[in-house]
Amino acid sequence: MDVLTITDVSPRDGLQSQRTMVATADKLRLIQGLSAAGVMSIEATSFVSPKSVPQMADADVLLPQIVRRDRDNISVLVPNLRGLDRAIAAGANSIAVVLSASDTMNRKNIGMDLDMATQICVTTLKRATDLGLATRAYVAVAFECPFEGIIPPSCVRDLALRVADAGARETVIADTIGAAAPVQIQDVLQLLLVHFSPMQLGLHLHDTRGMALANAWAAIQLGIRRFDASVGGLGGCPFAPGAAGNLATEDLVLMASQCGLHTGIDLVALMSVVAMVQELVGPPIGGRSARWLRTIVEQDSHKEEEK
Ligand code: COA
Ligand code: ZN
Repeated sequence: MDVLTITDVSPRDGLQSQRTMVATADKLRLIQGLSAAGVMSIEATSFVSPKSVPQMADADVLLPQIVRRDRDNISVLVPNLRGLDRAIAAGANSIAVVLSASDTMNRKNIGMDLDMATQICVTTLKRATDLGLATRAYVAVAFECPFEGIIPPSCVRDLALRVADAGARETVIADTIGAAAPVQIQDVLQLLLVHFSPMQLGLHLHDTRGMALANAWAAIQLGIRRFDASVGGLGGCPFAPGAAGNLATEDLVLMASQCGLHTGIDLVALMSVVAMVQELVGPPIGGRSARWLRTIVEQDSHKEEEK
């Protein structure tokens, strides 16, 4: 069976820029809903400065309340050792670090230059690995930086090798502002696949220019099977201007199911999570397939009623 592993990042990337503050209990409902829909990997929150990202200020109380099943991977984002300590105190066993591929993006995001950010990431990954935690490392703005423009693929490769060397089990190449097209995705991935096996890599896509799904398909063609996505396409980095939402989980699951890739995610249950999140954040959300999926879900429920 050809399996696609989806990490749903809506509780973290999805919510971090939302103006409406979402209550901890509602975040727990969201995580529970994703898990019930069959999502086995969820990025639940981030242990960042509450001054930088107020929406994530409840990470310490949220994480211990998440009910996990054995198969679930509940990861959390940590920007530094302080974040790692907080995450461990809250019971984390799986973390992600972020290293942006440009100097300016690191400064805007975490207040330090590329060299310092690399050092902090490496130190945090090493500590987490020594403690037996599962680790992911994002290489952010890996295709284009909103401040410095196009990123050379060789720079992404070098950073990916640094974080992998420091223990990152999964290296996640992130199109943080959704600027890449399939050819750029394949160029970077082909360079990385000289050094990595496809299962060591993940792809984090945003849909700013409507190319996220095409980009995912371009990566699937090269053997990549790990993707981040966000229910309803919610999300974006507050420090990367111009970024639209993430690749929508429902779009990716739908494409996968039509193309013979198994995700284990139930689309009907997933659409009820989209509806729940829409109520929580206000404005209408949904991926490119959401309108069609809603009509299918409605038709199915009418058929059930008629039985
Ligand atoms: N969690 C909570 N507080 C933290 C922290 C963490 N992981 N790391 C540092 N802090 C606190 C410090 O204790 C200090 O607190 P004080 O002002 O009360 O003394 C304050 O944050 C400033 O710390 P400093 O080391 O000077 O760094 P900074 O202000 O440049 O912040 C980060 C660094 C990394 C904590 C901050 O930029 C951040 O949280 N960024 C988040 C980025 C993000 O989530 N982006 C989206 C996802 S990629
Ligand atoms: Zn993102």
